[in-house]
Amino acid sequence: MVIKYYLLLLLPLLLSCAPLSVTAPAAKYGPVMDEQQAARLYARGEVSPRYSWLRQNVFPLCNYCHPRKRANFLSYEGVMQVVVPGHPEASLMYQKVFSGQMPPGAVHLSAQKIQAIYDWIRLGAKKD
Ligand code: HEC
Repeated sequence: MVIKYYLLLLLPLLLSCAPLSVTAPAAKYGPVMDEQQAARLYARGEVSPRYSWLRQNVFPLCNYCHPRKRANFLSYEGVMQVVVPGHPEASLMYQKVFSGQMPPGAVHLSAQKIQAIYDWIRLGAKKD
C-alpha cells in the first residue's frame, strides 16, 4: 500500500523532468573542444578547418552513401546545400555529425574531424 503512494508522488516529478531533458542543453550543436585545444590541433598540421582538407579526409566517407541523395558532398555547391556559412549550429550537416546521426551506425567521425567541420563553417564555409 505505502509503495503505491510513493509511486503516485513520484509520477509528477518524473513527468516534470521529461521536457527538461529534451530542451536542457543550451549550446545544442556547439563545438566538441575548446578554442585552445582546437588551435593546438590545427598547429600540429594533421587536421585543418578548410574545405580542401574536408574534401580529402571526410567527404569521401559521406559520399559512399550520399551521391544519389538530396545532400551530396561531391562538389562545393552540393555541400553548401546543408551548410549555413558562419553558423555551424544552424547547419544541417553539422547537426547530423554532431548528434552522431551521420554517418549512421556504430562508427562516428572523430572529435577532431567534427571540430574541423565546426570551425570551417564558423569561419565562413569558404572554398579554401
Ligand atoms: C551508411 C550510409 C551513409 C553515410 C556513410 C552517410 N550518410 Fe548521411 N544520410 C544517409 C541516409 C540514408 C540519409 C537520409 C535519412 C536520414 O536523414 O536519416 C542521410 C541524410 C543526411 C543528411 C540530411 C539531408 C538529406 O539529404 O537527407 C545530412 C546533412 C547527411 N546525411 C550528412 C552526412 C555526412 C556529413 C556524412 C559523412 C560524415 C554522411 N551523411 C554519411 C546515409 C549515410
